[in-house]
Amino acid sequence: MERTYVMVKPDGVQRNLIGDIISRWEKKGFTLIAAKLTTLSKEKAELHYAEHVGQPFFENLVRFITSGPVFAMVWEGADVVSTSRLMIGKTNPAEATPGTVRGDYGVKIPNNIIHGSDSPESANREISIFFDESELNDYVKSGNEWIY
Ligand code: TYD
Ligand code: MG
Repeated sequence: MERTYVMVKPDGVQRNLIGDIISRWEKKGFTLIAAKLTTLSKEKAELHYAEHVGQPFFENLVRFITSGPVFAMVWEGADVVSTSRLMIGKTNPAEATPGTVRGDYGVKIPNNIIHGSDSPESANREISIFFDESELNDYVKSGNEWIY
């Protein structure tokens, strides 16, 4: 089953949006495999955002993402990577559709509330940065086909 890495950023944590965000993914039908509140070191932030090294916004992004705790999660389900990106909305909250997390709660980048992996390969890479294999809970909710 596909997995993705979803992270409530420091602005989302401080605006008390953790519960709302967990609830959206739960209600959608995805399965929570791992979760923790953690504060990123500069090194971990730079590793997570390695693809953006050298971008003009990189330093500001790292400063923001290390400014307070984040809520790190792994979610599992069919097409969970692409569906989570749809639920998150466009990178710039000003362009994100209402109904998405960024469209409902964000105003400007880099303070866009939430992160979600952009591909199954990124998901595997990001999950391994934040979680040990032993922290990933492998379980099935029930035998009913509508609960997966
Ligand atoms: P990116 O991976 O392009 O967006 P997404 O989070 O939607 O996958 O960029 C990572 C983060 O970097 C983004 O959430 C906010 C920040 N960012 C900026 O601050 N300025 C920018 O111009 C871009 C493209 C991103
Ligand atoms: Mg990205």
